[in-house]
Amino acid sequence: MKAAMSGRLAVVILAAGKGTRMKSDLPKVMHEVAGKPMLRHVIDTCARLSPDQIVVVAGPGMASVEAAARPHVLAHQLEQRGTGHAVGCVRPVLEGGRFDEVLVVYGDTPLITAETLARMVEERRRSEAAIVVLGMRVAPPNAYGRLVLDADGNLDAIVEAAEASAETLSVDLCNSGVMVIDGSILFALIDRITDDNSKGEFYLTDIVGIARGDGRLARVVEAPADELAGVNSRADLAAAEAILQQRLRTAAMAGGATLVDPASVFLAADTVLGRDVVIGPHVVFGPGVTVGDGVQIRSFSHIEGAQIGAGAIIGPFARLRPGTRLAEDVHIGNFVELKNADVGRGAKANHLTYLGDATVGAGSNIGAGTITVNYDGFGKYRTEIGERAFIGSNSSLVAPIRIGDGAMTAAGSVVTHDVEADAIAIGRAHQVNKPGRAAKFRAIKRAKHTK
Ligand code: UD1
Ligand code: MG
Repeated sequence: MKAAMSGRLAVVILAAGKGTRMKSDLPKVMHEVAGKPMLRHVIDTCARLSPDQIVVVAGPGMASVEAAARPHVLAHQLEQRGTGHAVGCVRPVLEGGRFDEVLVVYGDTPLITAETLARMVEERRRSEAAIVVLGMRVAPPNAYGRLVLDADGNLDAIVEAAEASAETLSVDLCNSGVMVIDGSILFALIDRITDDNSKGEFYLTDIVGIARGDGRLARVVEAPADELAGVNSRADLAAAEAILQQRLRTAAMAGGATLVDPASVFLAADTVLGRDVVIGPHVVFGPGVTVGDGVQIRSFSHIEGAQIGAGAIIGPFARLRPGTRLAEDVHIGNFVELKNADVGRGAKANHLTYLGDATVGAGSNIGAGTITVNYDGFGKYRTEIGERAFIGSNSSLVAPIRIGDGAMTAAGSVVTHDVEADAIAIGRAHQVNKPGRAAKFRAIKRAKHTK
């Protein structure tokens, strides 16, 4: 995308706001959409423009924001005195060199696309405007700032909803919060913002009126509102999630996956699906999942942090937790949970099983109700099962333990020590049959209860 642009570009992402309307201990921009913090969505999108520098503005005590910003540059805004004040805080860290443009993006606008940002930079270079603002049509426009145009269609001012007259409030062209500003005048404009308004804040949006007063040009680029939704509340977060899910489902189907009921499949921003994957209704993907070609994922499965090899069949009702790696043609059936487990080619665990901290060799069969006993309340221990092993139903494999290639365990065994290749481990009480004892038992009980 860089190819379309020349000149030095800096990106400033505002993330210092407390987000009081979220009513949360977590900084607003760290709330997740499709399994990824809003701030990371914005950073990853901006990075696609290959800017010369990205600066994230964080508030005090926002360790999670600082971590999410790495390796980019951080600026601190110690007091939240408004979006204009926040951009002013970048001055000390914005690399000595002059930037042709500074792109300001709000960290609470996670759905914006790199294509739209590139269009804004292009518009500034084409029109040589001092400022290009990204606008959207919203009905009703609610709390968004309104974009007031002059007779020539140039931008005259941005008026915050709290400051707007009834007439201005009827304008449906709204400020998305994204701006591209001529880097040579940005801080001079910022210095002239005042906090003389109803909120007592320094509004970044005031730089448009100031630049216009100097006889400079400001322009608007429009983009669809569902790309620019700002998240200020939990309801906004849910609305952004719904829009992004819609995009991810469409992309998954365009990439060659069948989603039997797209509306009930939840994808993560980083989910990777191969060709001819078939996903049943009500499947949820958390972050970090890669699915190979031809995999079937049946209804009600929950999958996160897992690599699934080609041709595997998962579910219904399977749970794959982080660290799951399945080779080709593995079958994982209903009520089977895997965590930190490597399963070899063609191996099967079809019913009611927990495999945690385990390795299962190719072609092995894990019987119904098998449990790896991996935790003793203090530490976690590994279970290693070789190739072509047969684990009998309802086996407890008490880790650390190794089961050799071709070995078997008898159903119901509690297996506490290693089993060598091709051996059978039987770890259960001997069965004793008492002829006639059931009938005798019933006779005694009946006599007692009929007295
Ligand atoms: C802002 C715009 C409004 C626009 C809307 C779009 C201003 C004055 N208003 O309003 O015109 O329609 O976004 O979503 O800019 N932040 C800081 N430091 C601060 C205050 C905010 O870093 O002191 C950050 C927040 O973390 C957030 C972003 O700036 O990521 C926007 O702040 P927010 O309070 O959500 O502004 P809005 O009221 O939504
Ligand atoms: Mg906002």
